Amino acid sequence: MRVAVFASGSGTNLQAIIDADIQTIEIAVVFTNNPDAYAIERAKKHNIQVEIIDHKNYKTREEYEKHIIEVLDPYKLNLIVLAGFMRILSTVFVRAYKNKIVNIHPALLPSFPGINAGRQALEYGVKYTGVTVHFVDEGVDTGPIILQSVVEIEDEDTEDTLLEKIHEVEHRIYPKAIELISSGEIEVIGRRVIKKS
Ligand code: GRF
Repeated sequence: MRVAVFASGSGTNLQAIIDADIQTIEIAVVFTNNPDAYAIERAKKHNIQVEIIDHKNYKTREEYEKHIIEVLDPYKLNLIVLAGFMRILSTVFVRAYKNKIVNIHPALLPSFPGINAGRQALEYGVKYTGVTVHFVDEGVDTGPIILQSVVEIEDEDTEDTLLEKIHEVEHRIYPKAIELISSGEIEVIGRRVIKKS
């Protein structure tokens, strides 16, 4: 499968996906909206093509996404992997890549969607949170769930220590989820993502 990884920041999940050396994918391009994203350096180090399109130069989300679609078209992508991409994608983009976009969220969805999921979990006082990899639909963090993993919140945890634990789990399960998709082992039936029999 030809894959694009979308990242806006540090790109530790991008790094984990690169390091996992998944045999069923080729990372054809790393896309970012942020010209200062460290993810760009990570991609370059591994000779992966980079496309940088700053959203600030566009008047509307739709205009921006139409341009991304044009730029990505020649890459003939089978899968878009959102890894810390800090822009919400509208129906324009989601429809262009229907059922071909995945995201990783630092909580056990449907709990704590949106931003600052770690802080939300701490403030709520839950004892367990975690990580969710899911397909992207037209809502925010609402698509069918591929994999989840639990992280325990201990009394001494701060937002930073919790995010560190969450990151560790993310780096393990994102490559695993991508492998499941790219090897054709799973299918989506309604909201459920199940192993093909
Ligand atoms: C991750 O925690 C992910 O769950 C969230 O954004 C963060 C990206 O981190 N969507 P990194 O850039 O991969 O280090």
